[in-house]
Amino acid sequence: MITDAILVAAGQGERFKGSLAKQFQSFAGQAMWAWSHAVLVASPHIRRCVIVIPDGMGEKFLGVDAEDLVTGGASRSDSVRAGLAALSASGTPPEAVLIHDAARPGLSPAVIDRVVDALTRAEAAAPALAVTDALKRVELGGGLSGVDRSNLHRVQTPQGFHFGLIKRALGDRDDSLVDDLAAVEALGAQIALVEGDAANDKITFPEDRHRVERLMGLTAPNVRVGSGYDVHALEPGDHVILCGLKIPHSAALKGHSDADVAWHTLTDAILGALALGDIGDHFPPSDPQWKGAPSDIFLKAAAGMARDRGYEIGNLDITIICEAPKIGPHRDAMRQSTAECLGLPLDQVSVKATTTERLGFTGREEGIAAEAVVMLVRS
Ligand code: CTP
Ligand code: MG
Repeated sequence: MITDAILVAAGQGERFKGSLAKQFQSFAGQAMWAWSHAVLVASPHIRRCVIVIPDGMGEKFLGVDAEDLVTGGASRSDSVRAGLAALSASGTPPEAVLIHDAARPGLSPAVIDRVVDALTRAEAAAPALAVTDALKRVELGGGLSGVDRSNLHRVQTPQGFHFGLIKRALGDRDDSLVDDLAAVEALGAQIALVEGDAANDKITFPEDRHRVERLMGLTAPNVRVGSGYDVHALEPGDHVILCGLKIPHSAALKGHSDADVAWHTLTDAILGALALGDIGDHFPPSDPQWKGAPSDIFLKAAAGMARDRGYEIGNLDITIICEAPKIGPHRDAMRQSTAECLGLPLDQVSVKATTTERLGFTGREEGIAAEAVVMLVRS
């Protein structure tokens, strides 16, 4: 049977609460959608795989032919309809189709094999896991009643269908369904359930990430460390900005943004811990939008990248290296502003300063240097 696949990746990922929709979040360095895409594309059973994507997000799918990208709709069912329409419009439409959630990165070839095999016996098939926990229904009055779990299954994707059946079943309606099987259940189709895989669970909430990563055998470190170092020259002026605070001084720091050398250093330390390059890679000085920009933008963005990858800041330590201005009187305020910017308790934030005994460029007051170390901890 000629079988094509549809990977639905057009959702907003609202419940995951990432700075990017969840299908674009990085899993061991690869976007979530790319994991199951690679398995679908490599399957000997599958001729073609189209990806249903959010409007205008084609550039996120590097390496995929433009003809295999289809814009999705408001509901998951609308997105599936868009994928089915694209396959129908192709030269030879398939005889069967597998429809898979991009939010299930743990898809294995074995699950595909079982679904494809079942489609030789049934008109529709899906991987499923028997429910093993005891189930209780909370009654209106607050009482509990037991639910017989012996016939209950958790159904996953890819759900497979004879192509004509799913086209008819979804095409004849325009509502949003809980899954694709629901459309053919209503038609009384023969449906086979095959064995699913716990690693193929859907990622819905942020806390699902680590469980699925573990089940996929991806071992991410529990802590990561990063260091940063930055220097800005001094030029004529009347204040410097350090840790987001305006400090009166007989000179100013030179730079494209607000030249907050302390927060730039800290941003670099966070990016370093994530192995994501440095501040210049993410906020190029050549880009006019960063001219005069307050550096909390960079710091918050780096902390957001850490959160997206499942890390929180454990603690951080900044050292500012200069003769003047004197940092001591501002130190507590600098800790406070850094802690506030990152939403951290004060005891996880250290700011200290040193001079270089009048030696070198900092000693000659030609510039200010800063160093930072940060520890990221799995959240
Ligand atoms: N999906 C889609 N088009 C939509 C909605 C969902 O292609 N309009 C896809 C998602 O990208 C995901 C899969 O359907 O791969 C399963 O949906 P779900 O887990 O609900 O993802 P989201 O809708 O993105 O998340 P949320 O409901 O939390 O916003
Ligand atoms: Mg959804």
